[in-house]
Amino acid sequence: MHRRITVPGALAAACLLLAIPASAASHSPGAPGIGDPYYPDYGNGGYDVSHYDLRLKYQPATDELEGTATIEARTTQDLSSFDLDFLLDVSEVRVNGAKAAFTTSGQHELVVTPRTPLDKGTPVTVVVRYRGVPSTKSAYGFTTWHRTPDGAVAADEPEAAWWWFPSNDHPLDKATYDVSVAVPDGTQAISNGTLQSTSSKLGWTRYNWRQNKPQATYLATLALGKFDITTGTSEGGVPVVNAYSKDLGDNDGAARASVERTGELVDWLSGYFGPYPFASAGGYVPNTTTGYALETQTRVYYSPKQFANGSNASVVVHELAHQWYGDSVSLKGWKDIWINEGFARYAQWLWSEHEGEGTTQELADYVYASHPADDAFWTVKPGDPGPDNQFDAAVYDRGALAIQALRNAIGDDAFFAVLKGWPQRHAYGNASVADFQKYAEQVSGKPLAALFDTWLFQPSKPAAPAARAAALAPGRTAPARPESWRRIEATNDVHAR
Ligand code: ARG
Ligand code: ZN
Repeated sequence: MHRRITVPGALAAACLLLAIPASAASHSPGAPGIGDPYYPDYGNGGYDVSHYDLRLKYQPATDELEGTATIEARTTQDLSSFDLDFLLDVSEVRVNGAKAAFTTSGQHELVVTPRTPLDKGTPVTVVVRYRGVPSTKSAYGFTTWHRTPDGAVAADEPEAAWWWFPSNDHPLDKATYDVSVAVPDGTQAISNGTLQSTSSKLGWTRYNWRQNKPQATYLATLALGKFDITTGTSEGGVPVVNAYSKDLGDNDGAARASVERTGELVDWLSGYFGPYPFASAGGYVPNTTTGYALETQTRVYYSPKQFANGSNASVVVHELAHQWYGDSVSLKGWKDIWINEGFARYAQWLWSEHEGEGTTQELADYVYASHPADDAFWTVKPGDPGPDNQFDAAVYDRGALAIQALRNAIGDDAFFAVLKGWPQRHAYGNASVADFQKYAEQVSGKPLAALFDTWLFQPSKPAAPAARAAALAPGRTAPARPESWRRIEATNDVHAR
């Protein structure tokens, strides 16, 4: 794919001399990964993106996606070349207006060599023209682009972007987005944020979506298909946009009975987490066969299967909790996943208590009691689970148990101050488990290193807190299963791909 013009020897040498300024010696290629030990090739080094502008066109009949990505970035080192993460077929790359050389490498790297090297700390505009059939592309042997009978969906974690736009694919590099997609009349294009406008011309309808707050690449979503779109505003004033595939069959009613409660649940969660951080909220239910839901920023992805047993407000609470814990405050490295999943699960426990289906303490006691000490559950360290266990049930359940242990250690006043203060403290940024421990220590005035180590970092079952054991009714050896349990666990899906 590397395009090179062949010219006679002497002329070529002269061109080469002209093309490479003396300073280029100090410029080096940006790293092919951002430095996350869980996923060494994810993201890239040497630059920081501030904005993605995606102008796309999609044909559902053939799964053909084509368009132009314009990326606004700033260099963080002297660069001779840099990578983007991408799988579709690129026809042209321009850097600051000039045509750049490009090639592919590794599993998902697009290597761009600008005509002139880039100095550290300078703004860069990268234009990538591309097309391709995303469903035919894979990396590491898998694809997360989901074809549906009437279109397709991009929504997965941690990989989704490679199939639809070139990016610096790691949560550390958050950016704002304009996503503009033309689809045949009668098909809808759903993405994050606010629908700025639509327009129709010659059989194509263009949807212009805007995400005006920083967003991690895995939280960018795109759904193409025939949807019924509903709009409203929560009592607390948050605009809500939801979308339902017209092809949900028997799950349609339960999907709406769950997702239409988005406004109510955003307002309810605001009571615990503080003001909703984004300009819009909502979710969509495409006709996919997947089992999981995903906290795609402002526009949550739900699988129809989540509603196969009737309505499920609990999964809506989980995904909306992520808007504060995971989306506005994003992890620094993928090992910090507990801040996302532990708290989203804990929000479900709070909802259970609110609904009278089991208190957070009852749920914690049940998790603790239902896994004997030799259960592999306790070998997963929620504070650093490893890439293979990133979405293991232990990250969720042991993770939420750790939060209850924290609450019991610092008391309700400090605990709820932490729960609400954290999303403000790191709004629109990134933070780690270590940052969270520091913050909880600061707010509570208590040293918490031992507690965090026991509940999040030891590969073994913590000793029962004496007070909890005493709380069991006399003669009882195990707590009853709370009524909310099954519905909460249904959020986990089949985490397998
Ligand atoms: N963050 C998602 C959730 O807990 C989990 C996504 C797991 N990924 C997957 N491919 N199943 O809501
Ligand atoms: Zn989650």
